[in-house]
Formats: sequence, structure tokens, C-alpha cells
Amino acid sequence: MRGCGRSWLWGARRLGVPCGGVVRSGSVCRGAHSLRALPGNHCDQHPQMTLEPFLNKCKIQLKCSSFISLPEGKKKMSLPGQPYSTWQTTVDPKEIRKFQVLAQKWWDEDGQYAALHSMNEIRVPFIRDTVLNLQNDHRLGSPLSGVKILDVGCGGGLLAEPLGRLGASVTGIDPLEDNISTAELHKSFDPVLAKRIQYRTCTIEDMVEEASETFDVIVASEVVEHVADVEMFIRCCNEVLKPEGSLFITTINKSQLSYFLGILIAERVLHIVPAGTHNWEKFIAPEELERLLEPNGFLVKTVKGMLYNPFFGSWNWIGSTSINYALHAVKSSIQEQLDPKEASVDVDKEQPQ
Ligand SMILES: C[S@@+](CC[C@H](N)C(=O)[O-])C[C@H]1O[C@@H](n2cnc3c(N)ncnc32)[C@H](O)[C@@H]1O
Repeated sequence: MRGCGRSWLWGARRLGVPCGGVVRSGSVCRGAHSLRALPGNHCDQHPQMTLEPFLNKCKIQLKCSSFISLPEGKKKMSLPGQPYSTWQTTVDPKEIRKFQVLAQKWWDEDGQYAALHSMNEIRVPFIRDTVLNLQNDHRLGSPLSGVKILDVGCGGGLLAEPLGRLGASVTGIDPLEDNISTAELHKSFDPVLAKRIQYRTCTIEDMVEEASETFDVIVASEVVEHVADVEMFIRCCNEVLKPEGSLFITTINKSQLSYFLGILIAERVLHIVPAGTHNWEKFIAPEELERLLEPNGFLVKTVKGMLYNPFFGSWNWIGSTSINYALHAVKSSIQEQLDPKEASVDVDKEQPQ
């Protein structure tokens, strides 16, 4: 039976791997982030801690072509209105190393990513129907035609592909080059996707300068629990979304139940994955995610609980958000940000439990 004996939490599948993975910076937008994983890798240190002495000794290259001095660089770090400083990154190298070892496994439907394959059965309709409900113009056959989607942390393209087949124009980005190579290869098997999906090895912060207010929709599915700085991630999403654009997030709650099922049972009792593969500290409660989204220009419209059945290898929507959940938020207009009471929340917001 597909999925039998697997964890009901996607997160329970993660494998710990030793130091030595490589974080690649944007192939197109190569900025200061190309410095973040130096050869020989400082596994347990924050990249910022290793960069300062290095930069004091040499000139640094920013934005492809221009060499600038450190004082100039520091000025660039703190531009007013920029949602992050040049040296900050959402990338946590320890998390990326986990994905490095699985980079060729994305399309094995019965492998480590089986739960993400079956999650498409609920997340794709959720995204499609929510987007269509916000639009007047529905096109049969290609309902998402004309919709520009940014799939952040696209991995091997498991979600980007069905969204492309629904007609959307999808840009899939991931910091790990091997993930993007796998996504590109798989896309090439379906000619329909050739013009609808483009993939790039880069991060959301790399996108900010070149793609301000570009996308109608951002999806970040099973990604925020891997990032180094969730608030910065959210701010960058806000920058690249068009006004009133939609942000879809799926992730794992930081609850006692997710600790019990995802760590104690899955890792230590059933040994579905080796002990120590989870980082419960990086899970995030829906209330906490809302607390980060709302002051950063988003109105949360929907929060829905999700449950994985390991015996059937399938996902269902449930009333409780205590383990996995999906969230839809809309980029609020300036008026709504100034006067939140005026904001019209027209979709039922299900209460997190
Ligand atoms: C669990 S996978 C989810 C893949 C894909 N979204 C899906 O649902 O099929 C998490 C992905 O997030 C990527 N990732 C990790 N840190 C990231 C970051 N800071 N920014 C963007 N993507 C990141 C990983 O490389 C990996 O591909």
C-alpha cells in the first residue's frame, strides 16, 4: 500500500546529514549571498559571524559586476525601506544539507517525498479554488491562465508542475542547485510546461530587487520550517507580491502533538526515520505565523488543519491545526495597513486550535 508505514508528518522524514553540503547562490541574481557557504563550511556558525573578518581584509563583490569597499557595502546593508540587510539570508545551511542528499529523489512517488506527492491532492485544489474565488475571469481548461505564481522553495517542482498544468505562469526558486536541476529535468518530459514554468537557483531575498510587486500569488509549501528567519522571509514575500496578491503557506505547528507524533513516535518508537532528524524548534504555530504576517502587510484569511494518514498515504482537511496546517493571506493595501478595522475579511477565518 502506498504510503503504508510512513510518517503522517512530512517533517518526520527529514534525514540528518553531516557537514559539507553547499548552498548555491542565485544563478541569475548573484549577490552577497554567494559568500554565505564558504568552502570548508562553518557548519554551526551563523554565516554573518564568519563574514565580517573576511570582508575587512578584502574588497567584496556585489550584484555581479561592481567591486565596492566595506563602508560602501555597509551603506548598502541598511537602505531605508529595504526588508532586509544585504548580509542577512533566509537560508539555514544545516537545513539545506538535509535536502542535498535527497535531491535526486523528488519524483519517486513511493520514496522519501511520498507525503509531498499526496499533499498535492489537497493543496493544489486549495490554491486553485482560493485564487479563482478572488477573480472574476475563469477560463475552462486552464483556470489559472494569466496568474503569475512564485513557488518559493520549489524543491523538485512537485507543486510547480500541477500549477503550471492549470495554466499558471510559474517561477520556481530554490537555494539548492541540485533541486533545481531535478526540477528542470522533470519539467522537460512535459512539453506543455516548457513555457509555463521557469526555475532558478536563488532565494526570495535575491528576488526582491528585480521582481518588486511582480507576482499574483506566492506559494511556500513546507518551507518556512526550514528557513533561518521567518519574518525576513515574509517581508520579502510582501515585496515581490502585487498589491492584494495571495500568499499560501503550508507548514507544521509547534505543538505538543507535533512533538509527540513527529518526534517521539515517528523517530523513537516506530523508527520511521532516524532519531534526531526533526528540529521541533523550527516548527511554527499558526498564531505565531499570523503575528508575523499581520504587521508585515498581510491579512490572514484562512487557516486550515491538515492530517496525513500514513496507512493510506493520503491527506485530509481537519478542524484542528495542531499538527499540519495551510494558511492563506492577502497582501493588504496601504489603506488597510493604516486602518486595519477597515479591512474586509470576506473569507471565513477558521480558528486555529
Ligand atoms: C520540504 S521541501 C518542500 C518542497 C516543495 N515546496 C514541495 O512542497 O514539494 C523544502 C524546500 O525548501 C527549500 N528551502 C530551504 N530553505 C529555504 C529558504 N531559505 N528559501 C527557500 N527555499 C528554502 C529546500 O531546499 C527544499 O527544497
